[in-house]
Amino acid sequence: MLNRVNRVAVIGTGFVGSSYSFALLNQGITEELVLIDLNKEKAEGDAMDLNHGLPFAPSRTKIWFGSYEDCREADIVVITAGANQKPGETRLDLVEKNTKIFKGIVKEIMENGFDGIFIVATNPVDILTYAVWKFSGLPKERVIGSGTILDTARFRYLLGEYFDVDTRNVHAYIIGEHGDTELPVWSHANIAGTSIDKWTKNMDSFSPLDLDQLFLNVRDAAYHIIERKGATFYGIAMGLIRLTKAILQNENSVLTVSTYLNGEYGQEDIFIGVPAVVNRNGIKEVVELDLNEDELMKFKKSVQVLKSTMEPVFK
Ligand code: 2OP
Repeated sequence: MLNRVNRVAVIGTGFVGSSYSFALLNQGITEELVLIDLNKEKAEGDAMDLNHGLPFAPSRTKIWFGSYEDCREADIVVITAGANQKPGETRLDLVEKNTKIFKGIVKEIMENGFDGIFIVATNPVDILTYAVWKFSGLPKERVIGSGTILDTARFRYLLGEYFDVDTRNVHAYIIGEHGDTELPVWSHANIAGTSIDKWTKNMDSFSPLDLDQLFLNVRDAAYHIIERKGATFYGIAMGLIRLTKAILQNENSVLTVSTYLNGEYGQEDIFIGVPAVVNRNGIKEVVELDLNEDELMKFKKSVQVLKSTMEPVFK
């Protein structure tokens, strides 16, 4: 009998979906990759193009353009479809349009017998992850949004640049809405176990305002990129790959993803970005950081903004 192979289905082959597919092929972490898009020609063209890279890939990936039927055998369905922000638009501005699109997509996927793990990347990602959970009826552990995985990466990158240390030795999280109300967890940020406070003491010139500005650059990064090139896709694609790998390789990795809170952080009935342990079954557990008062207040505000945006859509 043949060994069961891993299959990832990508819904939406726009900038994010195709960058993700390209990165997936380059990292060789799934045996099968199926591309699904309303624009069949685009998906077909992407499959052809990606297949031509196979001789240079680290391992074999079977790639084809397919239909929702191919989701039945998928281990992971990654949804990147939907409208994206125009310059000046916020992520929350997309809520009605993309919830409608998602209703149709999730219905089709479930009617075709999908029983794996959903990864959601489309914005507003926290609300659309909630929507996928509602529309699919799957357990909450198996519906995961990209949440603040990218914001955390941006934060770690900028801190690494600022302190001139390898970003992989920076441990710091952005939590909350993937959007304007997100917050940095300064109270737990550290470099190789050394607090930021201690690190800054040894610096010749340091101003706390630099760190405030650094966070603003994280929070507003997407606006800055969209102004320049119309969309963001490489960073999020790599974040989605990291998440895919954590699932398929059963890593128990802690990633800041959008997950369901059921009392953690004093919140319930919401999908929002927090650190969580991710493995082959999806979300193993939420990591509950001891936030300080200011962080807790900002987190609560972020939850409130998401809930009030969702209310008219889900009523
Ligand atoms: C980003 O943060 C637009 O949500 C997308 O890059």
